[in-house]
Amino acid sequence: MNQIAEPRPPIEAVFNPHSPEYLDNPASQCLALLHRGRLVWYEPWQAWMMTQLPDIMNYWKNEPLSSDFYDWEFAPPRPPEDQWSNFERAMIGHSLLADHDHHRLIRKVVSPAFSRNVVDNIQRKIEPDVKRLFDELGKPETFDYLSEVAQHIPFISITRMVGVPEKYWPDFKKVVLSFTETWNPTISEERREAARQDCNRAIDIIKEVIAERRLAPEQDDFLSTLLRVEATTDGFEEGDIITLILALIGAGADTTLVAQQWSVYCLLKHKEQIPVALETPESFANAFHEIHRWAAAGKMGFARYAPSDMDILGHQVRKGQMVLLMPHLRYHDPEAFENPEVFDVSRQFDPDILFGYGPRYCIGAALAKRQLYLTMTELFSRFPNLQLAEEPERDEQDHNAIVFKKLLLRTGQGDD
Ligand code: HEM
Repeated sequence: MNQIAEPRPPIEAVFNPHSPEYLDNPASQCLALLHRGRLVWYEPWQAWMMTQLPDIMNYWKNEPLSSDFYDWEFAPPRPPEDQWSNFERAMIGHSLLADHDHHRLIRKVVSPAFSRNVVDNIQRKIEPDVKRLFDELGKPETFDYLSEVAQHIPFISITRMVGVPEKYWPDFKKVVLSFTETWNPTISEERREAARQDCNRAIDIIKEVIAERRLAPEQDDFLSTLLRVEATTDGFEEGDIITLILALIGAGADTTLVAQQWSVYCLLKHKEQIPVALETPESFANAFHEIHRWAAAGKMGFARYAPSDMDILGHQVRKGQMVLLMPHLRYHDPEAFENPEVFDVSRQFDPDILFGYGPRYCIGAALAKRQLYLTMTELFSRFPNLQLAEEPERDEQDHNAIVFKKLLLRTGQGDD
């Protein structure tokens, strides 16, 4: 007897990262998309989604697609050079994102600034700030980890690492944290414009910091390293320094904020694993992968844009269309991870793609892991009886990741 194949439901009926079901349990929707095909058109986002890890690694490594937001079909038109504001000068003229050759040059010259010993050094610089934050928190019975701790850490660590003096912090903080919204494809043009204005102000502040530093003796921070590179490298200019600092903040702030909340949540849900996770920076680095895998908090993946009409995995993709690389879809696939529902900080990760792969591998990977290790060590040593005070409510407003509205913790002071 001939079987008539059941028509498949539209993809948006089985995968919707903005639905309450996804916020509670992303795994089943991610798996539905993973098994839907190698490249899937997603009408609600007007984007293609690449689902399989070998394809994604290939596209990561060989970069046939553009990372430049202005190549997106719905981006505002790329303004002519004589109309560039600070923002366009930093984002187009010297972009880490735009030109592949220039990108390679920048990565090569700045790589020493992210080496292991530099990260050790950064840890020493950040440590007093983290301790101060916890001193200011004191010993409350309950507190919101997000507003009291997590939201301050990314800004502190990146500004310390770069070497932005504390006197600039209040003004800088007001304008720089919305930076990623300047090229977030999922928000309104008005919001992007407001973020562009803030970004222009942030660039003014960075320029002031650079001018001041040029007159001061060399210091032991990222800015001094970059000024040295500028003096010795053709094609590396002040605009590159500004772009890099913005890129560090843009790429390093939201990601670590998400990582902070899921690290605390996962470790508190599996308290018996805390000693193993926090035994050394290396054991935490592994635990950090498991936290990301188990939480599967990503929604959008990584955006790329077709530079011309092209064939991708058997589909005709038009110039300017967005292609999202979605490596997180497999995080709960039993083919990829044994007993995927089990949280195990000793799980091995091969390939290890949490921080990307190929030429755009995360610059801040070592810093991110160290900054999280430092904060978690401080948190759990100060509050050994820590517990979740309630199951945190998910924030449906966030477009990029599953995050909490707040993360209320009970310290259990006096419970010993
Ligand atoms: C939990 C923390 C973090 C995760 C999971 C993460 C992950 C990633 C991934 C997957 C990429 C590749 C993106 C793509 O292919 O489009 C990337 C790129 C990048 N990350 Fe991170 N990141 C984290 C924290 C940070 C921090 C703290 C910094 C800076 C201090 C940073 C700076 C960057 C930069 C500048 C890039 C762009 C590199 C380039 O285009 O050459 N990241 N990150």
